[in-house]
Amino acid sequence: MKTFVAFLLTFALGSADINPRVFPDNFKFGVANAAPQIEGGWDEDGKGETIWDHLAHRHPEKIADGTGPDIASDSYHKYKEDVAMVKAMGLDHYRLSIAWSRILPTGYPDKVNQPGVQYYKNLFKELKAAGVEPMVTLYHWDLPQPLQKELGGWLNESVADLFAEYARICFGLFNDDVKLWITINEPKQVCQSGYGYGELAPAIASSGVDDYVCSRNILLAHAKAYHIYDDEFRETNKGRIAMVIDTIWYEPGSDSPADIEAAERAMQFNYGLYGHPVHIGNWPQVVIDRVAERSRLAGYPKSRLPEFSKREIDYIKGTYDYIALNHYATNMVNASDAPVKDTGYWNDIGILTWRQPQWTGGEGGWFTVVPWGLRSLLVWLKKTYGDIEILITENGYPDKTGVMEDDDRIAYFEGYLSACLDAIYEDGINLTYYTAWTIIDDWEWLGGYTWFMGMHSVNFTDPGRARAPRKSAGWFTDMVKKRCLVKNCVK
Ligand SMILES: *[C@@H]1O[C@H](CO)[C@@H](O)[C@H](O)[C@H]1NC(C)=O
Ligand SMILES: *[C@@H]1O[C@H](CO)[C@@H](O)[C@H](O)[C@H]1NC(C)=O
Ligand SMILES: *[C@@H]1O[C@H](CO)[C@@H](O)[C@H](O)[C@H]1NC(C)=O
Ligand SMILES: *[C@@H]1O[C@H](CO)[C@@H](O)[C@H](O)[C@H]1NC(C)=O
Repeated sequence: MKTFVAFLLTFALGSADINPRVFPDNFKFGVANAAPQIEGGWDEDGKGETIWDHLAHRHPEKIADGTGPDIASDSYHKYKEDVAMVKAMGLDHYRLSIAWSRILPTGYPDKVNQPGVQYYKNLFKELKAAGVEPMVTLYHWDLPQPLQKELGGWLNESVADLFAEYARICFGLFNDDVKLWITINEPKQVCQSGYGYGELAPAIASSGVDDYVCSRNILLAHAKAYHIYDDEFRETNKGRIAMVIDTIWYEPGSDSPADIEAAERAMQFNYGLYGHPVHIGNWPQVVIDRVAERSRLAGYPKSRLPEFSKREIDYIKGTYDYIALNHYATNMVNASDAPVKDTGYWNDIGILTWRQPQWTGGEGGWFTVVPWGLRSLLVWLKKTYGDIEILITENGYPDKTGVMEDDDRIAYFEGYLSACLDAIYEDGINLTYYTAWTIIDDWEWLGGYTWFMGMHSVNFTDPGRARAPRKSAGWFTDMVKKRCLVKNCVK
């Protein structure tokens, strides 16, 4: 136990030392956002309703401040200003998402909405003129509402086919504009929250049953889009495509074998649920075994985890050109089995999570400031899936005050970027992109406008949605220019 405490202390103190190395020449810095969080214009120029428009309008009580994404940061009208800020910060890339319902208002591929297409064409033109590379997500949680209402959303396998049709249309429309593609953002949030614990839209509570059905369909959707890209567009587009998977880093709560195993199990249920089918093939064995066993004990006629056919396993395996990672938190993990009668994703994992008392962050429970957790996670990815290029597609610091002198956010970026340097130079991780969440304040889903994550503030009571730089914008700009985190950089 003593050695274990010493080990934790080393980690904790180690994070205070900022790595003095210069980022490699090919390393890229950018910022990320998502259509439903910044665009607004929710029903403008032919855009259709999404499950998030629907949730916010019908159930404002589910959103912290009762607001919706109707206007958000108004980037639908102010995108030129946003791009100018990205350029002024000297950033290499800008991650954005295309709203499915702006391109195909009902979600079905029968009618392409030209004004919606034009919006993204204009945005890409603006980025090109600014010398900024677009990194484009096709699905960032905003399912067209008719597909939820008429088909049951991601619980219906035919939605995977409709997503593939939508992806094909986007690859065709934006073949000249976009070279760095993302199919789906954070499938775990879409499924385990949206159809599991019933928090995110469409807020269906069926944990341990429907969320796994969603996981299966969304993996098929991703794979179909990947193969369409591979077969029909790769040759002309000459770009790359992957799915963004988010995960917490799960650190063993003690050096006991049971807690070490519990932490690995947590990683497999969280990251592996999506990473294993894509990188290795099929669900992780521990997920197959535990859900089958717990289903049997609870009297289910078969496992609550749906199966993939041999053909589907092969079809999904290998559908990545890089690893795209979103990361916001670290948790400590102890083994803890839930009673078998309690179905549910978290009970299937069988863990108890906790935080070190010295960790800061954690308001609202979904993030912590633990830079070494990112480094451990990157090492785990390499150990588990091989030496694959990794792009960090989201990492950022939320606060509830919107303070302009945001020193905590600066310390956060400094710590996490230092962990990136450690991973690159100490651990040999092929890490090439860091994408901060984010450039401007936005609509934070169930948090509405009560969480602030922008390096620029947005005045949400101002009809003009005025933007203003926080202290972190200046810090980040200087860092990008210098390409290192300390005064005396080491080559
Ligand atoms: C799934 O979608 C198909 C259309 O492709 C539809 O016929 C079927 O009823 C849907 N299933 C459910 C359960 O809604
Ligand atoms: C986790 O396990 C360790 C070692 O057995 C123990 O000291 C600690 O109290 C446990 N934490 C929780 C929250 O149960
Ligand atoms: C990182 O991955 C890319 C893409 O596979 C490859 O071209 C590059 O050589 C790799 N870099 C290192 C340092 O391994
Ligand atoms: C936000 O905008 C409102 C309305 O224009 C204005 O009254 C207020 O002073 C602004 N707030 C800040 C912090 O600039």
